[in-house]
Parts: sequence; C-alpha cells; structure tokens
Amino acid sequence: MTTEHWWRSAVIYQIYPRSFADSNGDGIGDLRGIVEHLDYLNDGTSRSLGVDALWLSPFYPSPQADFGYDISDYQAVDPAYGTLADFEKLVEGAHQRGMRVIVDLVMNHTSDRHPWFLESRSSRSNPKRDWYVWADGRDGGPPNNWLSSFERCGPAWTRDETTGQFYLHSFTPQQPDLNLRNPQVRAAIREVWGFWLKQGVDGFRIDVAHRLFKDGQLRDNPEPLAAYRRYHRHPELRQYNLDQPESHELLRELRCFLDGHGPGLLLGEVPISDDSRLVEYFGADGMHTAFHIAFWEQPWDAAAFRGTVDRLSGLARPDALPTYALATHDIPRTVSRYGLRQARVAAMMMFTLRGLPCVYYGEELGMADSPPERALDVDDRDGQRVPMQWEPTGAGFTTGTPWLPFGHDIGTANVLVQDAAPGSSLNLYRRLIRYRRASTALRFGDYESLDSPAQTFVYRRRSPEEELLVALNFADRPIVLAIGEGPARLELSTDAARSAGTVSLRSVPLGALEGVLLRVG
Ligand code: GLC
Ligand code: CA
Repeated sequence: MTTEHWWRSAVIYQIYPRSFADSNGDGIGDLRGIVEHLDYLNDGTSRSLGVDALWLSPFYPSPQADFGYDISDYQAVDPAYGTLADFEKLVEGAHQRGMRVIVDLVMNHTSDRHPWFLESRSSRSNPKRDWYVWADGRDGGPPNNWLSSFERCGPAWTRDETTGQFYLHSFTPQQPDLNLRNPQVRAAIREVWGFWLKQGVDGFRIDVAHRLFKDGQLRDNPEPLAAYRRYHRHPELRQYNLDQPESHELLRELRCFLDGHGPGLLLGEVPISDDSRLVEYFGADGMHTAFHIAFWEQPWDAAAFRGTVDRLSGLARPDALPTYALATHDIPRTVSRYGLRQARVAAMMMFTLRGLPCVYYGEELGMADSPPERALDVDDRDGQRVPMQWEPTGAGFTTGTPWLPFGHDIGTANVLVQDAAPGSSLNLYRRLIRYRRASTALRFGDYESLDSPAQTFVYRRRSPEEELLVALNFADRPIVLAIGEGPARLELSTDAARSAGTVSLRSVPLGALEGVLLRVG
C-alpha cells in the first residue's frame, strides 16, 4: 500500500457511520458494523463493489447537535460508535482488502461542550478565551450581520450570559467557530492531524474548507450579500465570513504535514458553486481534490451537465482532478432528485468523467430519500440518512429498532435482492467500477466533450492505450446518434437488457434514458 498518487484513480465510498451497520442491536450504526461489511465493499473479487477508499463521516465523541460534526473530543471514538481499538480493526481490515481510509477533519468549529470551549467561555481572561471568536455586541444585537448557514439558526452569533459577549458560529449555536489565527489553536489542530495519521488513516476529507478563516476585523457583509447564508457570487464584492485567503495557507501547511507522512489524500468540501473560486482550493500544493459542488446542483439536463463539467475542466489546473459525487449526507439522493432510471445514467456519467467518483452509501442500491415524520436534523437532512438497506426486512442493519425508520423502498432497494438480480442498480455499480479499474482511459485519460443533439451528453476519454466514447441520453425517448466513423464495441449500457456487441459510430441507437460506453477501434 505505498503506491504514490494512488488517489488519482480511486473510487471513494462515503460511509455515514450512524447509518451503515449496527453490530450491537442498539439501532445505531457503529465501527464494528462497518468492519463486518468490508467484504461487501471490496473483497478483491467481482462480487463486491470494488471501491478503493472509504470516507467516514465523523465518529468522534459528540453531543450530536449536528450528528457528529459537533466534536467534543478530537482524539477518541464516541462510545455509541465503538472504541479506538475498533477503529484500528477497521483500518487494518480495510488495508488488508486494498482500501484506504479517509476520516472527516472538522477544523472550523468544535462542539460547545468541548473542554476548550468550556474554558473559553468561562471568563474574558481565561487563557483559552482567544481560541474562539468572541466580540462585543453592536446596538444591543450581534457584532455584525453574518448569518449561520442553517436557516433555522438565525444569526451566526450567540450571546453568552457569563461574560456578556457574543461568540461566532457558522453553523448551529452548539458549534462555536475556532479562531485558527491563534498559534495555540493551530498547534492543537496539528496534534489532531498527527493523531489520526498515527492511527493509520490515509487522508482527510476537509469539512467546510472555505470557512476556516473569516475577516479579522469582522466587517459586515456588503448589503446584497448580507441576506445569503452560504457562498454567493458577486465578483466585485467581498464576502467577509468565508473564502478568505488565509484558508489556503492553512491547507498548504496541512498538505506539507500529510506529505511528510506518506502518500495521503486531502479531499476538500468547498461548498462554492462558483468554479472560478473553487479551483483555487485544489491541485498544486493545496488539497489534492475537492467536490465539484455545481455538479450536484444541476437540473436533469444534458447541456447543464456538459456545461458545468466543461467549465470546471477549463478552469482547473491541468493535472488537477475534481471529485464527482451525486449524493452526500447533506443533499437529497440522486433517485429523489432525478428518478430511478435517471440515476443509472448519472452513475455512468460519474464513473466515466475525468475525476474521482464518490459513492454515498446506499446510492449503489438506488435508495431514495425517506424523511421521517419527526425531523431530527437541524437542517432537514434525515431523509438521505436512513439506514443502509441490507435486506428487505431491515435485518443486516440492526436487530433492534433503527435510529431512523427504513425507506418505503426497502423491498427493492436492498442488497440481498439486488445482489441476485443481474440488472439491478447494485450490479450496474459493480460493473462500472470494475470497468473503470481496468481502463487506463477512464483512470488517467484526457476528457473532451463532443457536440451532440439536445438532451444528449457525449464525450471521449483517451489514454495512449485506448479510446472510449460515452453517450448519455437524458431524454425519455430513444434517439440515434452520429458520433463519428467506423465501428466501435458497445461495452456497457445502463440498460441491463442490452448486450455488448459491435455498432457503427455513424448511427448509435440509444434507448430512452440510456447511457452507453463504447470502445473505439
Ligand atoms: C459540512 C458537513 C455538514 C455539516 C457542516 C458543519 O457541510 O458536511 O454535514 O453540517 O459541515 O460541520
Ligand atoms: Ca450500535
């Protein structure tokens, strides 16, 4: 496991530990549950999914105000999820199967129950006061006009009774923002990096990498931007509570630190849909890669997807690779956004673009969102976090009562049933991942989109060894495409009923909502 740049051709699989597999019947997924299912993810044969790396959402001690993204101890495992010894087994088991492990690094904020914050809030003169962002109010209100990113949380400031000052929280009031300008905080955070690298992790997913620094003078966001909770494009105006240049310095420091430990991966979460800003965050000496946020914000429209992929390809540094996800724990699932057959076409697109594909657990089954009757999450994201559906009965996830009810689609969107059905979504994912693994054009090749009729997206992937064409029909009616001259071999289709064989590039028939992969020559 020492290959350099392993990440450049990796397929990543996101596990939301609470929802993947529960080993002790308390209804909450845990680390041992993950260990028990490693073979499903990659057992070295074509029967498993075949992913290369696991990204684990936070499993650290947390009061769960934001389901683990509010951390009260950076160097331990929440008892609900297990122990450090379990984590060690997880890393060992993953490595034995050729999978890397990436953990979530949440540096922007801690939990309000973290001992650092308890100290910081205890008095204005506490040595840790400056570890967080404290300020006096203005005219009886918060220090400035910044908003929390969550609709339900109001302003980004909460007044603390003990000292009468306000503290900054970019998310919930239970997630105070750290002051990463303070050298002691930087040192403490560096210790966290070292700790997890010593546990054998192969890299980090960087939570809200664009938020790590805010304007030192805490200036108001200019009027047209003041109403936006997230990043908003306004090229001539500066947004003071995010996307500050200092973030890049810290990320470069982390990159050096990581490189000093071996070939690791920094995968950035940079929720900025403005690609010209996003590209500043990955490639070169910053993070290796970052999620292409605009990609998952597109409507079901071929031109929209082509446009966003081409725009980012044109702006990014030549050898920088974005990460393409269709779903995460923060956004509605693909099937719910686009539909079941659309999701198969989207999957073919994700696995054949130039970048790192990232699969959200259960996506391979075509699981849909199932919001519970009573919301638990502060930002209404429960629907996409329902437990993994291993079997139609819910067995496999837990022997107890799941922390969130299973989806209404559990009868069909489950591993047991789909494993046995050749045309299932699960088997399509397995085929796509296996094909990608064997293809130098898909793993390392260049990308070029081709002009094609409305509601189709056609592109070429080429390496010195092979040339592939991908043709995706976004429309709900068949079409015949002229893509070039000569014969090609149809290698894969999202339509399980369609068999491989030779086609003429002069007229390639595509079914309604069908995607195909063709080998030229
Ligand atoms: C990231 C996480 C999200 C969390 C937020 C605050 O966006 O993906 O789940 O709520 O950061 O940590
Ligand atoms: Ca459990």
